[in-house]
Amino acid sequence: MAHLIAPSILAADFGNLQRDVEMLNASQADWIHVDVMDGAFVPNISFGFPVLNAVNKIATKPLDVHLMIEDPDRYIKAFAEAGAHNITVHYEACPNLHRTIQYIKEQGCTAGVALNPHSRVDLLRDVVTDLDLVLIMSVNPGFGGQKFIENTYNKLHDIRSISALSNPKLLIEVDGGVDMNNANKLINAGANLLVAGSSVFSSANPTDAIAQLKSIK
Ligand code: DX5
Ligand code: ZN
Repeated sequence: MAHLIAPSILAADFGNLQRDVEMLNASQADWIHVDVMDGAFVPNISFGFPVLNAVNKIATKPLDVHLMIEDPDRYIKAFAEAGAHNITVHYEACPNLHRTIQYIKEQGCTAGVALNPHSRVDLLRDVVTDLDLVLIMSVNPGFGGQKFIENTYNKLHDIRSISALSNPKLLIEVDGGVDMNNANKLINAGANLLVAGSSVFSSANPTDAIAQLKSIK
């Protein structure tokens, strides 16, 4: 499967959010990655529904909502209504993960689970057939622009093996510190959906940066 690119609007210019979302609409981006942080699950607050609703009015590409929040069940319905195509919750935030996954799907969204750098891929073995997507965090969640963690490659190999056996259509997303230096290796290790924040929006030409990430063979 050709890989997908999901630029993260966490790195966009919030004073020019419409301009930046329109840039993504016209680019080769496949999805738009939306990072929601609550200041409790992660030590940072990003944005919530007013911003998401504004983005949803402008965006012409699927919204990939990454919830870095405690007890996400409280808000899943609201995120679906705010236009999420995919909703990803954190393994570490969900004591009843199987139920949460079913609940996301009942709202008409595809369902993803994210794993922090310290969480083993094996933890998802018993739910992987229920999932549309697994997100491997390649930094600790909470901030854009952090250094990529090298152990991510091992985790991608592990989830790819599990996926090959039990869910070949699984999207394997990698998030944090993705750029042109590691994208090729990430795809070879098993990723088929790359999130990129800083490497896209700090580039002199974000549209080109997206095209370059997309053109990797
Ligand atoms: C981090 C977020 C990421 C972030 C990636 O907590 O989940 O999606 O926006 O940003 P970069 O690509 O700058 O590491
Ligand atoms: Zn993210």
